[in-house]
Amino acid sequence: MVPSNISCPRYNTTTIRVTRILDARQVWPRNNQHPIVRADAIRDPLAKADLAFSMYLGHHLSEQDVIGLIRNVGRCSRRFILLDLVRHPLPLALFRIFVAPFVSPVVVADGQVSIRRSYTRTELRELTAEALAGSAACFRHSVAPLYARQVIDISY
Ligand SMILES: C[S@@+](CC[C@H](N)C(=O)[O-])C[C@H]1O[C@@H](n2cnc3c(N)ncnc32)[C@H](O)[C@@H]1O
Repeated sequence: MVPSNISCPRYNTTTIRVTRILDARQVWPRNNQHPIVRADAIRDPLAKADLAFSMYLGHHLSEQDVIGLIRNVGRCSRRFILLDLVRHPLPLALFRIFVAPFVSPVVVADGQVSIRRSYTRTELRELTAEALAGSAACFRHSVAPLYARQVIDISY
């Protein structure tokens, strides 16, 4: 990962307990020990947690919903790690060349739409800053090599 915006002295805290913020409609294995909660992560009250994590959710959301998600998670968790794709020509080209020939047409279509619907690094950074404006929270933003993914790590 290539980090940027690292300016938070609170990142050396130890996380004790983790709550997963995943899509609420996903089916989990019966033996999974984590509680499963059906909820709208943008609007519903969420379980108290030390850490919240979302993966590949952001590109499904409008700008206002990304802001709403970040604020809503901050009401229940001390930290939020949001991982998502990056809208950029490079991952789109790499997907077409190295992934698309080996997967089904549905996955090809879904993958390309997902990258196109994603936020650029600048957009996601600005949305996060807007969501946290006026609060005591701070965040760092990392973009992986080849723009393969981006991570927003918020400490509320
Ligand atoms: C691309 S899938 C990612 C699923 C999983 N996190 C993964 O990485 O395999 C995006 C998921 O976000 C969920 N989702 C969309 N809006 C949501 C919301 N407001 N609250 C909770 N989950 C939501 C959808 O149900 C969908 O399953």
